[in-house]
Amino acid sequence: MDIYRIKGGGALSGEVKISGAKNAALPIIVASLLADGETTLKNIPDLKDIRTMLEVIQCLGAEYDFNTEKNTLRIRISSIKNAELPYELVKTMRASYYVMGPLLARTGEADVSLPGGCAIGERPMDIHLSGFEALGAEISLEHGYVKARTSSLRGSEFKMRAVSVGATANLMMAAVLTKGKTVLENCAMEPDIVDLGNFLMKMGAKISGLGTERIEIEGVKKLDPVTYTIIPDRIEAGTYLIASAATRGSVTITGAMPEHVGACMSALSEMGFTIESGRDWVSIRPSKALKGTVIRTMPYPGFPTDLQAPIMALATIIPGINVVIETIFERRFTHVAELRRMGADITVEGSVVIIKGVKKLMSAPVMMSDLRAGAALVVAALAAQGETEIRRIYHCDRGYERLDEKLTLLGAAITRVKGGGL
Ligand code: UD1
Repeated sequence: MDIYRIKGGGALSGEVKISGAKNAALPIIVASLLADGETTLKNIPDLKDIRTMLEVIQCLGAEYDFNTEKNTLRIRISSIKNAELPYELVKTMRASYYVMGPLLARTGEADVSLPGGCAIGERPMDIHLSGFEALGAEISLEHGYVKARTSSLRGSEFKMRAVSVGATANLMMAAVLTKGKTVLENCAMEPDIVDLGNFLMKMGAKISGLGTERIEIEGVKKLDPVTYTIIPDRIEAGTYLIASAATRGSVTITGAMPEHVGACMSALSEMGFTIESGRDWVSIRPSKALKGTVIRTMPYPGFPTDLQAPIMALATIIPGINVVIETIFERRFTHVAELRRMGADITVEGSVVIIKGVKKLMSAPVMMSDLRAGAALVVAALAAQGETEIRRIYHCDRGYERLDEKLTLLGAAITRVKGGGL
């Protein structure tokens, strides 16, 4: 397996262009199943998760060409040939369950293997499934598969018991081709959901209330394939701002949507960094008076849980006390033990994490355990004294396009060593 070797301590500087948003691209690729013909998607990042999703839609009957130089993806649908998604595909990426909405709407059936480690009726799929039931589907669990069946879905009102990005997207994709009016309440307001909605509307869907807690959808008979450009990735944008802050560098991110990065910009300003932004760029530079702050993850427009790990890595070297409260995924702290190995002073009490700033992190051999925990280790390694070796970097390949190339352009001493470790 490949590893990263990062010599830390140098300040990042320069400009970095932000790629298309993974979490918008994934449901939009799946939503292309809703129309026969050729869909063209631009600004699709070349990521492992995108490749997995392409395998998923291919398994259901789609054909595709992905031009990775131009980040353009063409998807052709003539018919849905299969309504079953096997465990091999679902286990590598939970977001594969996005196919349930389009499959139910188009074929009246969907058999999707349950992602590992979860039971029906509990996280992470209960909201999706009770939403499909509200639209008239019958749900059963057989041999590790969720089976959904309907003779025809019908518009309905459904209030989600908790804000869920995945359930909001899945139910929207089912409702656009469902007869009658569907009203979804307690919806996610993430830009990825708005992007999916804009894509569906370009295809001919009738949707109102995007970006609010209440989304109304008037079902249409048919959708048409279109050409669409994906929004920039706000989590990648935030990660580069945080990495720059950790190295006390001066970096400008370009091709971004600053309005989507607001909570991250505010947290960094509160710590004392100087942030400026224009139409499609944000710049950050250090200041002499840095101080700790309190960060609470929340659904959009709050601070994103996906930046909790990277900003915690930064917090370890901010003078004073930082507090991080994780409210979305309570035990999303696998990065903590690795950061401690690099000299961080972190105490975890339930979902509250107290970080006492240290002067310097030190290099140590560390291992990624998931995508964003991996990004945290890269941030820490960039700031640490000495050379850090990071293993299991395939986690970062899932969600950061050309991470080592982009960091090298910003002056980082990072090398990807092919087959360098377990
Ligand atoms: C999406 C993002 C992920 C991000 C998360 C929260 C994608 C592909 N992934 O994940 O990067 O961290 O939003 O912003 O877009 N829940 C249930 N039952 C359900 C569904 C969710 O209990 O049926 C719970 C989850 O366990 C979690 C919370 O609701 O505690 C939010 O999860 P959700 O918004 O659904 O996350 P994902 O869509 O999986």
